[in-house]
Amino acid sequence: AGPELRELLLDRIHDVPDYPKPGVMFKDITPLLADAKAFGALTDALVELCERYGADKVVGLEARGFILAAPVAVRAGLGFVPVRKAGKLPGATLAQAYDLEYGTAEIEIHADALSSGDRVLVIDDVLATGGTAEASLRLIRRAGAEVAGVAVLMELGFLDGRQRLAGALEGAPLEAL
Ligand code: PRP
Repeated sequence: AGPELRELLLDRIHDVPDYPKPGVMFKDITPLLADAKAFGALTDALVELCERYGADKVVGLEARGFILAAPVAVRAGLGFVPVRKAGKLPGATLAQAYDLEYGTAEIEIHADALSSGDRVLVIDDVLATGGTAEASLRLIRRAGAEVAGVAVLMELGFLDGRQRLAGALEGAPLEAL
């Protein structure tokens, strides 16, 4: 993102200390979503990434990734595909488990949502440890599609998600606005 967009986005993301538990600094994007100019500028920047990376499908990661990715898909004229937490999709699914700080989680995609030749841009709000994004890239490839890139609003650099994701990206770009 250019310096002006970056400033605007940073100003509309609020730090909430000790949420959801003590010691955690929560990044609240609801002020950004409520600001038409900021949300619009973010959407435009993500649409530009779709064009730059030659994406022909947009994948959003539940739940905040849905909010960011859906308007991008519409504005870019591309289909939207949700990656959901386990048990939410009605059709035949592919599932991928991944490690959390404590325990594991599982995400799913509809098995027929993508086809070979599809180039997918993955959109989410935050890259933290990178576990969610890494699992989503596995799902996309297992569904037969290609990863055009990963775009997030924020990257929490101190958690080294970029490093964890590096192998799974297989050379695809990771953009943090
Ligand atoms: C958050 C965030 C990312 C993920 C990043 O989602 O929206 O999807 O965690 O963390 P990671 O890089 O360590 O995997 P959360 O599970 O809180 O879901 P929500 O969007 O449904 O609130």
